[in-house]
Amino acid sequence: MQKVKLNNGIEMPLMGFGVFQIPDPSECEKSVITAIEAGYRLIDTATLYQNEKAVGNAIKNSGIAREELFITTKLWIQDTGYQKTKKSFEQSLKKLQVDYLDLYLLHQQLGDYYGSWRAMEELYKEGKIRAIGISNFFPDRAIDLVVHNEITPAVNQIEVNPFYQRKETIEFHQNNNILVQSWASFAEGQKDIFNSKILSSIGAKYNKSIAQVVLRWLIQQNVAVIPKSVTPSRIFENNDIWDFVLSDEDMQAIVVLDTNKSVFFDHREPDTVKWLASLQYEE
Ligand SMILES: NC(=O)c1ccc[n+]([C@@H]2O[C@H](COP(=O)([O-])OP(=O)(O)OC[C@H]3O[C@@H](n4cnc5c(N)ncnc54)[C@H](OP(=O)(O)O)[C@@H]3O)[C@@H](O)[C@H]2O)c1
Repeated sequence: MQKVKLNNGIEMPLMGFGVFQIPDPSECEKSVITAIEAGYRLIDTATLYQNEKAVGNAIKNSGIAREELFITTKLWIQDTGYQKTKKSFEQSLKKLQVDYLDLYLLHQQLGDYYGSWRAMEELYKEGKIRAIGISNFFPDRAIDLVVHNEITPAVNQIEVNPFYQRKETIEFHQNNNILVQSWASFAEGQKDIFNSKILSSIGAKYNKSIAQVVLRWLIQQNVAVIPKSVTPSRIFENNDIWDFVLSDEDMQAIVVLDTNKSVFFDHREPDTVKWLASLQYEE
């Protein structure tokens, strides 16, 4: 498993396993255990996904030592603010049944995330979190957080996939020592990605699937990945990308798929902001 050094010196696996949209606790626990068997060591959840407890059960039952795993969760908008962040963090630890987190992310650039960041900086300094970061932050908000705070986020988890390639955004983060981690690397299957002629013809050259080509294309840009699947064969397939390297020509060929637009929604549209702010998880 390849690892990357974050800006505070700690190592994070480049490949992780995402658990968004696995609400059924037994399916979630089973999938995480399969992922750990397949060699994944990073698990990406969020308070909003309402499956931290199932992830915690999987960690406990996996037989793998806690220190060998890298656990990420995210603070939801309803918990932003200094006090609420401290409380939500403790609840996440409890649900995950762990006594520290490897990575804690601000899930959205919404609400009182400055208050949250101060709480996260404190928790980091107390040794309760190994790295703190952000998600869905656009470069203007990310740099504002950097210049007004002591600790620079280690990671920004954002949508990056062949249809939304974000070359300049990736460069911005690399220039500011913030690692980009891609969510929806497969665009959640939208735009018929798994039938793309360009991606399948590249895959044929290496005897690899479209999913494997996409993950390799991201890794070769130093972008970390967290593909999600509840299908055991796909869980294994997605982590079987360490024995080939895409040529420069193939990396370049993927550029034509870029639409320069999110496959889902623009996080900065007022209606999207209202909708995101209205989403609440249940305790
Ligand atoms: N920070 C954020 O705001 C944010 C937002 C979205 C996601 N995320 C994180 O990023 C992770 C990944 O993103 P995502 O779950 O949205 O979407 P994704 O990984 O792009 O796509 C998941 C979909 O692709 C299918 N799939 C997976 N591997 C495949 C393969 N090898 N061949 C064919 N189909 C395959 C899965 O099907 P099956 O499951 O049926 O096999 C599922 O329908 C999430 O789980 C979550 O941890 C974060």
